[in-house]
Amino acid sequence: MKIAMIGTGYVGLVSGVCFSDFGHEVVCVDKDPAKIDRLRAGEVPIFEPGLEDLMAKNVKAGRLSFTLDLAEAVAGADAVFIAVGTPTRRGDGHADLTYVMSAAREIGAALTGYAVVVTKSTVPVGTNRKVAEAVAETAGDTPFDVASNPEFLREGAAIDDFMRPDRVVVGVESERAKKVMADIYRPLSLREFPVVYTNLESAEMIKYAANAFLATKITFINEIAALCERVGADVKAVSKGIGMDGRIGAKFLHAGPGYGGSCFPKDTKALARIGQEHAVPMQITETVIRVNEEIKHRMIAKIVDLCGGVLRDKVICVLGVTFKPNTDDMREAPSLTIVPALVGAGAKVRVVDPQGRHEGEALLPGVKWAENPYGAAQGADLIVLLTEWNEFRALDLQKLARKMAHPRMADLRNVYDRDEVLEAGFEAYEGVGR
Ligand code: UDX
Repeated sequence: MKIAMIGTGYVGLVSGVCFSDFGHEVVCVDKDPAKIDRLRAGEVPIFEPGLEDLMAKNVKAGRLSFTLDLAEAVAGADAVFIAVGTPTRRGDGHADLTYVMSAAREIGAALTGYAVVVTKSTVPVGTNRKVAEAVAETAGDTPFDVASNPEFLREGAAIDDFMRPDRVVVGVESERAKKVMADIYRPLSLREFPVVYTNLESAEMIKYAANAFLATKITFINEIAALCERVGADVKAVSKGIGMDGRIGAKFLHAGPGYGGSCFPKDTKALARIGQEHAVPMQITETVIRVNEEIKHRMIAKIVDLCGGVLRDKVICVLGVTFKPNTDDMREAPSLTIVPALVGAGAKVRVVDPQGRHEGEALLPGVKWAENPYGAAQGADLIVLLTEWNEFRALDLQKLARKMAHPRMADLRNVYDRDEVLEAGFEAYEGVGR
């Protein structure tokens, strides 16, 4: 199959590279000349384990290329994927569809024969029909269909999620388009990964419902964690105990400082908006959004408590500021709420993050960046473990305790056990929900 991928952001690039690895001929398009130059030079502009090697392999095999020229990529393509950004619009909180719609019109004008125009970007329910109208405006007599093909890629595990998905969702309404999509995903269906076909609206809805459900699951356990702290229960044991019920499932029950990232915050807000518009308020999702904010503030209160009620001039060493490990992404990271609150209250904050500095420097003013936890801990009053990078999972706790002025730890990801931390010489330890 010949595929054009419009947009080389996170989703577009991962999808384009993986489709080429299936053996399809993929041309990735972007409007940003600097980005195309970098990609042509073999450089991956995002941090995603495994992506650079897979990209190099498929470029070398002649199946993957990059261009600024949308028309050239679209000409002769069997499928054109729209994977451009849909940021939250300032003011009204709607998903901003400007890029999607202008891509649709450009694609229509560039079609040379039948193609399926597939939306991969996460878009409000009903958008695919609007995409069809926009393509039709410029397509003239050239036949085409639209399809909705939402992605479920986790940052840091995106290639594996693409290659070994729980399911692929395809919203499609003609047999011809279904056949094209089936051919594209044949390498997966041959290996028994299920491809679910629905109408356009259901596919759009699946994406929002899945992300809102997962955000709810996390927020639920975070709220249970707060109660655990009061009643003497341990949320880790509670998560394990409920997760073994097959109806609940063990995943996404890790209590922490609140969810962040490019998807959950944006998609929950978008779902709430869609509900309001249709006079069916998404009350559970609205509550999740609010509680997730409160959780971050509960973490700040925990830190203040551990510091004896006063943050002024306390030296706080924050381990991890990206929204989760294995990414350099800072979008909606809990650190963006927690760290400025510490700085604002007069604490001297030192930050260590294996990938976060590049983006984090501009976003977290007033902090000092350190190379490793041991240097950062020198003379510190508190360690806050905020993102569970692997290198923070096996810290030499005794060494840390010796370096700190007041060895105390706020372990906001429950990486350690209270006993081991105290035995290593720490004077105080607080996890989440324990
Ligand atoms: C998510 C979805 O998993 C993916 O399917 C979707 O397409 C995009 O959004 P991502 O944002 O990359 O992926 O990260 P994910 O691993 O899902 O984590 C999201 C947030 O939830 C992170 O801030 C993480 O720390 C938090 N989280 C996750 C928890 O606090 N506890 C958990 O048990 C799981």
